[in-house]
Amino acid sequence: MAADYQFEKVPSAEELVELAVKAREKAYVPYSHFAVGAALLCSDGAVYGGANLENAAYTPTNCAERTAFFRAVFEGRRNFSAIAVVGGPEGQLVSEWCTPCGVCRQVIREWCNPDTFRVILGRAGSKPREFLLREILPMGFGPEDLGESGPSGMSGGNFVERDGASDCGCGY
Ligand code: THU
Repeated sequence: MAADYQFEKVPSAEELVELAVKAREKAYVPYSHFAVGAALLCSDGAVYGGANLENAAYTPTNCAERTAFFRAVFEGRRNFSAIAVVGGPEGQLVSEWCTPCGVCRQVIREWCNPDTFRVILGRAGSKPREFLLREILPMGFGPEDLGESGPSGMSGGNFVERDGASDCGCGY
């Protein structure tokens, strides 16, 4: 399946936030009525949206960020540049910042370089705010910390570098 959107050049934070706002329309939030949307940018400009999907048993709820990552990873994507996140009460414009929960930060860490991956927050009437993954997940535990037990026997160093080039080598 194709991505939800394909940028031909590096998008602005505002453009990514716009796609997160669109993804938020798909949130399934009958319990919290708090709708979150995410737009995950792959290194070749493809974008996968995500929204939170809740569950009557509550704990199986999937956050917007994880929905976006799981969709993209299932499609074979492994190289990511940024994610935009917007969230707030369902049916209203987003007026406050919505930051990724701890579980989502850890899931992001699985596939992203903490030193380069950008987390972009959006809300109506403000310029987006931007953080590096390492700022919102300091001293995180990642695949390379498993050494020989990690994916393909990784040991030390930087996950993204060892993973090879970006999807298309176009430098996003
Ligand atoms: N939620 C997200 O989808 N992403 C976040 O960054 C924070 C929280 C969801 C989970 C739940 O469906 C609702 O927001 C309220 O916690």
